[in-house]
Amino acid sequence: MPIQLLPPNPNGMKIAIDLLHRGKCIALPTETVYGLAADPLSDSAVNATFEAKQRPINHPLIVHIPNQEHLHFWAEDIPDDAFAIADKFWPGPLTLLLRKHKGCHTLATGGLDTIALRMPAHPIFLEVLNSFGKGLAAPSANPYKRLSPTSAEHVVTGLGDNIPAVLDGGDCHYGLESTILDLTNTPYRILRAGPITASDIMTCINKSVMEPAYFTDRVPGNVSAHYQPESFLKELKKENISDVLTNFKIGKAAVMSFSEDVFSLFVDTCYGATHLRKMPRQATEYGKVLFSVMHELDKFQTTAIYIELPPKTEGWQAVHNRISRALSL
Ligand code: TXA
Ligand code: MG
Repeated sequence: MPIQLLPPNPNGMKIAIDLLHRGKCIALPTETVYGLAADPLSDSAVNATFEAKQRPINHPLIVHIPNQEHLHFWAEDIPDDAFAIADKFWPGPLTLLLRKHKGCHTLATGGLDTIALRMPAHPIFLEVLNSFGKGLAAPSANPYKRLSPTSAEHVVTGLGDNIPAVLDGGDCHYGLESTILDLTNTPYRILRAGPITASDIMTCINKSVMEPAYFTDRVPGNVSAHYQPESFLKELKKENISDVLTNFKIGKAAVMSFSEDVFSLFVDTCYGATHLRKMPRQATEYGKVLFSVMHELDKFQTTAIYIELPPKTEGWQAVHNRISRALSL
């Protein structure tokens, strides 16, 4: 069956909710990226999600909940800080890692005794959650290790007929996945950089929050090769610029650049309009379009996409994290 593109109206929502009740996994918009949602209490629905993404079943999924009260169903030993943080940042782009409730069975945690929970802010996702009533397991709606989708079109391109439907909510607001904050041990740790920064959390609870650049223990989802476009992604450096320019002129390279001087070097060539993307100079705006620009440039099937690395200051951490894992090793 070809994938159905559902409109964001009561009829589209009804079809989406019916499919979820029938144990199917379907793509829904969130404010970060599109998620592949399924009933976390149905083994077959969760398995269908892993299968559609070709994701290993020990690689856990985030469970999305419609409000804070649901925390008690999924988690136990919840620190008070979790509620203070949820008060401040939910609904929103922040996932909390907590101890899984021993009484609750879900395959979504990949066998771990911890659970990742998030209350998303997207009105469509929230409405589906409220109507479904049980929470929804939802990884990003892309094939394993590929770029996350920030539009319904990206979902169709990536997962195509592996899934029955995608509810079209337009472009995602943030364009990058949620921050993941581990509250299972102190000091608390950011496991994945995202729109909410360590400083935002520290200001909220007045405690230090670690943000390790590298993990000594294996944190699922922090595998180095992730978020990859089809083309090779390479760093645009001063020393390789003349080579890149030569390949760019014959249509074999694409470029993502934000400094005026670098951008203008490429702008006059015949491929300028199609193979060159001017990136925003502001971190949130950059994050919003990062994946969609890579999705777009991927269509040209060039030998490589060259990317000029943005500054390394705190606001840019989430962007750097995604670029460093998208770069070809
Ligand atoms: O913004 C987002 O978080 C999106 C939208 C759809 O909500 N979801 C998302 O899910 O990015 P996913 O599955 O692509 O990434 C979730 C990450 C994975 O890297 C997974 O390993 C990690 O969360 N994760 C989930 N449960 C975990 C757990 N119990 N312990 C450690 N990591 C966990
Ligand atoms: Mg993902």
